[in-house]
Amino acid sequence: MKVLVVGSGGREHAICTALKRSKRLTKLYCAPGNAGIAQIAECVPIGVMEFDKLTAFAKENAIDLVVVAPDDPLAAGLVDELTANGIRAFGPDKKAAILEGSKAFSKDLMKKYGIPTAAYENFDDPAKALAYLENCSYPIVLKADGLALGKGVLICKDHDEAVAGVKEIMEDKKFGDSGNRMVIEEFMTGREVSVLSFCDGKSIRIMTSAQDHKRAKDGDQGLNTGGMGTFSPSPFYTDEIDAICKETIYQKTVDAMASEGRPFKGVIFFGLMLTKDGPKVLEYNARFGDPEAQVVLPRMKNDILDVFDACIDGTLDTVDLEFEDNAAVCVVLASDGYPVSYQKGFAINGLDAFEGKDDYFCFHAGTKFSDGSIVTAGGRVLGITAKGADLKEARKKAYEATEWVTFENKYMRHDIGKAIDEA
Ligand code: AMP
Ligand code: GLY
Repeated sequence: MKVLVVGSGGREHAICTALKRSKRLTKLYCAPGNAGIAQIAECVPIGVMEFDKLTAFAKENAIDLVVVAPDDPLAAGLVDELTANGIRAFGPDKKAAILEGSKAFSKDLMKKYGIPTAAYENFDDPAKALAYLENCSYPIVLKADGLALGKGVLICKDHDEAVAGVKEIMEDKKFGDSGNRMVIEEFMTGREVSVLSFCDGKSIRIMTSAQDHKRAKDGDQGLNTGGMGTFSPSPFYTDEIDAICKETIYQKTVDAMASEGRPFKGVIFFGLMLTKDGPKVLEYNARFGDPEAQVVLPRMKNDILDVFDACIDGTLDTVDLEFEDNAAVCVVLASDGYPVSYQKGFAINGLDAFEGKDDYFCFHAGTKFSDGSIVTAGGRVLGITAKGADLKEARKKAYEATEWVTFENKYMRHDIGKAIDEA
């Protein structure tokens, strides 16, 4: 099979790496890809929102399957466009991708179908939102309705912060049109878990769990980022919690989307909080997480092409997902200053150290070629992943491997997986 992956980050590198293991793969392309992906796929210089060019490329090259990985093209309907042109595509169509694309939609869906989540109200009028803030308890959480690169969530400790937050989101439009509507929701406490799943519109198969570290600095300080590191599985996601989620969240979500005439085919990523009242949904994403994919996919035993096919063909009920009985940890190497401002274009040294080592992965996120060498080209630069017999071993190996690579202004968190010690 000839496969085209759409995207350019660590997640896409992890997807490409999983695809390379498939016996059915004959040729792999990635648009636009990065310098790491270029070592295992042919990168084509087409952006993820250039739908016409992607469609033309897929037609001209007789691509058998396009895997759409990032949220923006999914929400904007790339899968619909490809399908309308007779090209097979993995990922939710526009109607289903709204599960991530509109937080107000997903909150209303959960309320309608009794899926546990934080209490909330939706607003499209800032005056009404401000009036609501007069009578709620703090802290409180404000969320821009639409996609905002994971940054549209504000946790406000008091009334003043919340008033400023409403202004930022709805009046100053800090997150653009994503702030035309807003969700105000109850603040929850508990451990967070990321659970990715495959869906075929009717059935759902759960992947192994993971935990992200969203804040930029050690001790969960600093600004929210795309994610600074992950581990898998989460020791806090016990069999008992898995059973509760299977009963109250997973299949119910798939059924709810089907009932709404929006059957979901692709990856649903459940952002869960394990509260004292049981697991609740923090958010849905309509795609693989990044860096979650960098610890989950290396542990998956199935041929990923079989699973993609089953999702598209509606035969997921015949698939048993299997994961290795081990653990993985990913530490993101970023450019110092991320997520605000940072310099890039620095040469990256030491990448050869990963060659021939089955337990170690150096997933590229923001890298590119410049004058024949690989240089930094983004905030998140590399995802250094290691597998081990257990989480502690995987963490030790991942941190060792972070030392193999050097570049100017290299930055990382030093406490990825610290929670493992509390398990
Ligand atoms: P989201 O993009 O919705 O996952 O939100 C980003 C982060 O904000 C989450 O990973 C949580 O850490 C935090 N968050 C979101 N919603 C809530 C909530 N209702 N209560 C507490 N923290 C939240
Ligand atoms: N790591 C969180 C996300 O992919 O949204």
